[in-house]
Amino acid sequence: MKVGIIGAGTMGSGIAQVFASKEGYEVTLCDVSLELAEKGKKNIASGLEKLAAKGKTTPEAVAAIVGRIKTGLAENVGGCDLVVEAALENLSVKKELFGRLQTICGKDTIFASNTSSLSLSELSRGLDREVVGMHFFNPAPVMKLVEVISGVNTPQALIEKVEKIAKDVGKTPVLIKEAPGFVVNRMLIPLINEGVAIYAEGVASAEGIDTAMKLGASHPMGPLELGDLIGLDVCLAIMEILYTEFGDPKYRPHPLLRKMVRGGLLGRKTGKGFYDYGRK
Ligand code: 3HC
Repeated sequence: MKVGIIGAGTMGSGIAQVFASKEGYEVTLCDVSLELAEKGKKNIASGLEKLAAKGKTTPEAVAAIVGRIKTGLAENVGGCDLVVEAALENLSVKKELFGRLQTICGKDTIFASNTSSLSLSELSRGLDREVVGMHFFNPAPVMKLVEVISGVNTPQALIEKVEKIAKDVGKTPVLIKEAPGFVVNRMLIPLINEGVAIYAEGVASAEGIDTAMKLGASHPMGPLELGDLIGLDVCLAIMEILYTEFGDPKYRPHPLLRKMVRGGLLGRKTGKGFYDYGRK
């Protein structure tokens, strides 16, 4: 199966690795420039090499996975059976992209989006086919879940095809009917937002809050270190969508979250968020 991935950032590269890890899949990893697509592929290779150095995989397996990934631009996904969009989390950017993809791809190509909270019904409006949500979790090669999201007009047969593909690449799909934040982000991002509030009130230190949730609730990461991993800009964007769509004050983004995003403290990707990762 040929899979095009649009967007070679953290999520796009992780998703490319997921598909390329399975024999029988050929991946074209794309971005707005070949340089960015190549950078994504290099990140996949270096991550896998680190795993090989720790003895968690073999150099042969790494070479096979990397060998199944080509790089390109959106124009190069014409022959793909499935295109997974993992571009900027912005409705107009995604709509413009899918509009272009329908002129590039055949009519049977499945269009999927890794959107973390946008409406699939809105994304599909005006297109010649329905876009299915195929929401992976960070780090995509490790996290087992894929939320398979249908919009109001999504045909059942299309959902079943995507569900089958997700299983085939080793993920566990959960079927979801479109709703703001779907299932995971509707609960997880407000949890992170609450962690920000507790921190802002001076109730405990960042380390204290994270340790409390790891040891007191068995979460693998605390809310603030998880916010730094996801990207505080992404967390804010999801809170804004929950707040706007539900109109419920319980989803109000905390002002400190807004302030940190305005100041460029986005977490790991900028080198600083609730923790200092060394300047990027
Ligand atoms: N490719 C393949 N395998 C990898 C890998 C990679 N790039 N990176 C790590 N692994 C494997 C490791 O080999 C290891 O395998 P093993 O269990 O067989 O030894 C396993 O993954 C765990 O890796 P590590 O031992 O290095 O790390 P930890 O045990 O500390 O776990 C973690 C790291 C998986 C990130 C864990 O801390 C965790 O689950 N954190 C929570 C992550 C989370 O909640 N993600 C969701 C975010 S929300 C989201 O993404 C939605 C979006 O819309 C916002």
